Amino acid sequence: MAAHDHPIFTLLYRGVSELGEHASLGATRSEVLAQAHGRLLIVGSGPGHDLDHVPAAVTSVVAIEPSPSMRAASLPRVHAARSRGLEVELVDAVGEQLPLPDDSVDSVLFAYVLCSVESMEQVLAETRRVLRPEGTVCVLEHVRAAPGTWTDRLQRVVSVGGVWPFLMGGCHCRRDTRGALAAAGFHVESLAERTLASVPVVGWTLVGAGRP
Ligand SMILES: C[S@@+](CC[C@H](N)C(=O)[O-])C[C@H]1O[C@@H](n2cnc3c(N)ncnc32)[C@H](O)[C@@H]1O
Repeated sequence: MAAHDHPIFTLLYRGVSELGEHASLGATRSEVLAQAHGRLLIVGSGPGHDLDHVPAAVTSVVAIEPSPSMRAASLPRVHAARSRGLEVELVDAVGEQLPLPDDSVDSVLFAYVLCSVESMEQVLAETRRVLRPEGTVCVLEHVRAAPGTWTDRLQRVVSVGGVWPFLMGGCHCRRDTRGALAAAGFHVESLAERTLASVPVVGWTLVGAGRP
């Protein structure tokens, strides 16, 4: 089995993300992607729901996804996007090592993926390399809750002994994603923090768009 494949998580996430689409998550994906334009890089495209929300200003998509079961799950959405006239490449790769030239994309989407990558720092450095200086970084990421809140306590409890990442395909629920983006040189002051998901552990969410 490929190192990044978690078929049981894929099955679980397919169901949960499908439910999310029919609740409010689909609208939030559209909101986050509204500022995407030109060539869009989707890092960790998973089952591909974001392809249903790509705005007309996007001219082509390169979707990076290291999990074979996730790539297979996304195929119907990849084909649907292509049949709408959108050029979509689905590539077996990781965000830490993007198979793309310098300054080759106009927008990047991180949606529920920075929680799962091995090295946020390396993914963000690679993103800076491939994103043009006037580009846009679109963010929809669950993050570490504010200290002292109930969500913060819950996130600490489920993280003990690595239980949460083990069950959730390598997801870490206590990452300081805003801090990592800022440290990598992205302007992310305007990103909002909202409670989104009905699962409290991953409810605290960073939403919006920033710039290099
Ligand atoms: C929770 S899913 C989110 C999928 C999708 N972005 C969404 O919003 O529904 C996280 C995805 O990130 C992928 N992933 C894990 N590690 C990765 C890495 N280092 N680089 C790129 N993608 C990765 C996983 O295979 C999985 O498909």
